[in-house]
Amino acid sequence: MEENSASDILLIHGPNLNLLGTREPGIYGDESLEKINTRAIKQVEAAGRFLDILQSNHEGELVDRVQRAGTDGTRYIVVNPAAFTHTSVALRDAFSAVNLPFIEVHLSNVHARETFRRDSFFSDLAQAVICGLGPTGYEIALDAALKHLALDPNKT
Ligand code: DQA
Repeated sequence: MEENSASDILLIHGPNLNLLGTREPGIYGDESLEKINTRAIKQVEAAGRFLDILQSNHEGELVDRVQRAGTDGTRYIVVNPAAFTHTSVALRDAFSAVNLPFIEVHLSNVHARETFRRDSFFSDLAQAVICGLGPTGYEIALDAALKHLALDPNKT
């Protein structure tokens, strides 16, 4: 495998985020997931890195992808687990198992909404948590991921 041919960073979007742009725009904004992803790819490729992206409404598919990230050369994950943030021990366990650094992102400020959104199965494992900044949260997370990769003493 060529160096850097595997994706350096994996961006994961959980359930219902495929509806961004039309889903509760007052909370999640009017930008589509496609636009967010296009910008993310440009940002990562401009830094000479590769990005893989998955959106899924299915817990098992997300678990499978995180498990695969443990062996496919992925070095960093940015994830918005969406509703699974508050429910999924299975997805949490997948992150624990692969032990890759990751940032948890939420478009909305989950602390300013219903109380059940304050609890996350991921935050204590995450390197950082960003919420409330809308799509800018992904840009900041990817920037931090790129910096993390650049500073990794063992790899380029
Ligand atoms: C979300 C917040 C979650 O509580 C919610 O279930 C989502 C999106 C966010 O990005 O603000 O689907 O993760």
